[in-house]
Amino acid sequence: MTNEKYKPLLEPFDFSNGVSLKNRIVMAPMTNYSSNEDGTVSDEEVSYYIRRSKGVGMVITACTYGTTNGQGFPGEFAAHTDEMIPSLKRLASAIKDEGAKAILQIFHAGRQVPKEIAPNGDVVSASAIAYPAEGKPVPRALTEIEIEAIIRDFGEMTRRAIEAGYDGVEIHGANTYLIQQFFSPHSNRRTDRFGGTLEKRMTFPLAVVDEVKRVVNEYVKELFIVGYRFSPEEPEEPGITMADTLILVDRLASKNLDYLHVSLMDFWSTPKRGVEDTRSRIELLQEVIGDRVPLIGVGSIYTAEDARKALTSGVPLIGLGRELLIDPEWVQKIEQGREDEIVTKLEIDKQEELDLPTPLWQRIIKNPGWVPGI
Ligand SMILES: Cc1cc2nc3c(=O)[nH]c(=O)nc-3n(C[C@H](O)[C@H](O)[C@H](O)COP(=O)(O)O)c2cc1C
Repeated sequence: MTNEKYKPLLEPFDFSNGVSLKNRIVMAPMTNYSSNEDGTVSDEEVSYYIRRSKGVGMVITACTYGTTNGQGFPGEFAAHTDEMIPSLKRLASAIKDEGAKAILQIFHAGRQVPKEIAPNGDVVSASAIAYPAEGKPVPRALTEIEIEAIIRDFGEMTRRAIEAGYDGVEIHGANTYLIQQFFSPHSNRRTDRFGGTLEKRMTFPLAVVDEVKRVVNEYVKELFIVGYRFSPEEPEEPGITMADTLILVDRLASKNLDYLHVSLMDFWSTPKRGVEDTRSRIELLQEVIGDRVPLIGVGSIYTAEDARKALTSGVPLIGLGRELLIDPEWVQKIEQGREDEIVTKLEIDKQEELDLPTPLWQRIIKNPGWVPGI
C-alpha cells in the first residue's frame, strides 16, 4: 500500500490541452549512445526504454537530430529523414505500450557536434566562437539561409514525431546546444536579426517554437504536447545569467506551450549571477511563470522524500534521470509502499539486470562521479 505521504507523487496530472499523465514523475531525457550505425533505434535501446516506461507518467527520449550537421553524439538515433519514421515509431510504441506518454526530444548540437561526426568536419553555430573547453573546434557561423533551414528542420522533426505516434515533442533549448548557443552572449556575436541584443538573441529560440507549433496545428488531429527545455545559467563570461533566463522564460510562458522544463543537476540550486535573490532557481522560475504553464523540475531527486519535498516548491512534475538508470522500478516501489528499497547508487555488477545498453554503461564507467556509485 502506498504511504500516505507520497500519494501526491502518484496523483494524475492534466495538461491544459487535455492530455493526462497517470502520475507526477517524468523520465528525464538521457542520451544513451546505443543506436544503430544507420541512425535507427537498437534492440538494447528499446529494452532499456521498455524497462523504464512502466512506472513513470511520461518519458522524454534522448535527444535526436533533424539536420545532418546537428548530431551531437555517436550512437544517437536520427529524425532527419522520413526513412527514420519506422524507427521513431518503434520507440514511441515501446514507451506507450508500457503506459507512459512518449515525448521525442528534438535538437541540433551546433558547436558541440564532435568534429569527427560533423559532415566534412563542418561544425556550425551562431558565431565562429569555440566552446570554452580544451580541444573544442572553432565553428563556422551559419548563414541566415541555413538558419531558416534549421528552423524548418525542427518543424520536420515534429511532423515525423506526429507520424510516428509520439504524444509530443520537447524542444531542447538547454545544455549548451544550438538553441542555447543562439541565446547565449558567449556563442552568439551576430549583428543581424538573430543577435546583438538580448531580444534579438531570443529570435532563433522563439522562431523554433513558432515553427513547431505551426506544424502541430497543421498535422495533429488529436492532442499533442509541446515542451521546451532550457538551462538557467552559463559559467562563462559573457554567458547566460539568471536574469537573462527569467526574461526568456517569461516570453516562453506566453507562447502557449504545454510545459517548460529546466535543466539542473541539483533541484534546489541557487542563482550564480544576474539576480540578488538568494532563493532557489526553481522558486524564481516558478514565480515568473506563475500558473501560465507547468514547469518540470529535475536534479538529484534520489529518494521518495526528495521528490515529496520537490513538489512543495510548487512545480507539478518531477524529472528523474540517473535515478531511473540506477533503479528502473523507482516509481513502482513508491506505489507499493516499498520506498525504503529504492536503490540510490549504481551497482557495478548489475548492467544486464538493469537493462543498461553497453555503450551507455561504458560511458558511465569512464566518467566516475557522473552517476552515484561509480
Ligand atoms: C547519461 C545522461 C545523458 C543525458 N542526456 C540528455 C539529453 O539527451 N538531453 C537532455 O536534455 N538532458 C540530458 N541529460 C540531463 C538529464 O536530463 C538530467 O537533467 C540530469 O541528469 C539531472 O537529473 P538527475 O539528477 O535526475 O539525473 C543527460 C544526463 C545523463 C546522466
